[in-house]
Amino acid sequence: MNIPFLDLKRMDEALKQRLKSKFGEMLDAGIFSGGEEVAKFERSVGQFLQSRFAIPCANGTDALELALRALEIGPGDEVIVPAMTWVSTAEAVLMVGAKPVFWDTDENGLLKDDWENAVTKRTKALIPVHLYGKMVRMEELTEKARNLGLKVIEDAAQAFGSFQDGKAAGTWGDVGCLSFYPTKNLGALGEAGMCLAQDERLAGRIRLLLNHGQPLRDQHDLVGRNSRIDTIQAAFLNVFLEGFEANQQKRKVLAQCYLEGLSQVAALKLPEGVLEADHNVHLFVVQSSRRDELTGFLAEKGVGTAIHYPAIVPGLKPFETKGDFANARKLADEGLSLPLNPFLKEEEVDFVTKAMVAFFETKNQ
Ligand SMILES: Cc1ncc(COP(=O)(O)O)c(C=O)c1O
Repeated sequence: MNIPFLDLKRMDEALKQRLKSKFGEMLDAGIFSGGEEVAKFERSVGQFLQSRFAIPCANGTDALELALRALEIGPGDEVIVPAMTWVSTAEAVLMVGAKPVFWDTDENGLLKDDWENAVTKRTKALIPVHLYGKMVRMEELTEKARNLGLKVIEDAAQAFGSFQDGKAAGTWGDVGCLSFYPTKNLGALGEAGMCLAQDERLAGRIRLLLNHGQPLRDQHDLVGRNSRIDTIQAAFLNVFLEGFEANQQKRKVLAQCYLEGLSQVAALKLPEGVLEADHNVHLFVVQSSRRDELTGFLAEKGVGTAIHYPAIVPGLKPFETKGDFANARKLADEGLSLPLNPFLKEEEVDFVTKAMVAFFETKNQ
């Protein structure tokens, strides 16, 4: 068996043909920055997620930085960030000159709900991360933040298409940041990202910041940068968006297979709430104290896995911060992402679950 963790080459032929013909159309049209494909992408995502403003940009890391800058967060300010996340969440805070203040997660990797204990006079915002595609409880979080006078930037990079109480990930906070990195549920054939906003003034600032502060050609109202989306990526994303919901259903079916196949393994902690609407099943992360041994065993059987992420962010050199962060640390030590993507067959998931059951049965003897 050869079951890669994720192999984008496995994309089906019909879809590859759609993308090739879209690329041909783009070459013929000769428009590679801005244009109708970008406008269409904005409209489609805005409609799908019910977001007043959907502002595409170059990648998810930029989206976070643009959000912070648009909210005028900078030197002297503190921003609360979970200890377990992809590095971008904290990186963006440092890039604008502010200080990330790390807080532990719950055992599923979501910002622990006692985060208000991290608030100081300097705290301006917090960045909840919908890690692995599972949303943080946003009603409670946004209410608490409002009462404390804090801004909320949602890092929804992994949670495109997760909805909680009918409201999309990224539309609860002041700004929601999305990534369309190729491995994401909605992934480009390169880099792309987006800021979601509900306030017109804030959306206007984000638009200015990502295009040299330029409201009109050669008029520059503030110091911005170039973080525009590539037109070609917007065009590919429009194609991918057509098949998004069908792919989501496939993910849910495969997640259900894993849950059924693995529920008997008492030594394994399974992800919670994956079948709920507020989880887009971006990653299927199990936890085991024998994680490394299990990884090797699966690799021998031809099964690829991944670790998201093997170190907590405050443990990394540029972000080094002392602290316990016990849950985040446990996830770094014990979390293992199993292959789960729309290119995978049910038989393959079945093979993985059977291999895992065998691993734990043997080890228990
Ligand atoms: C949680 C999280 N935040 C931010 C990002 C940054 O997105 P990008 O890779 O598009 O810059 C990612 C994706 O890689 C992510 O997973």
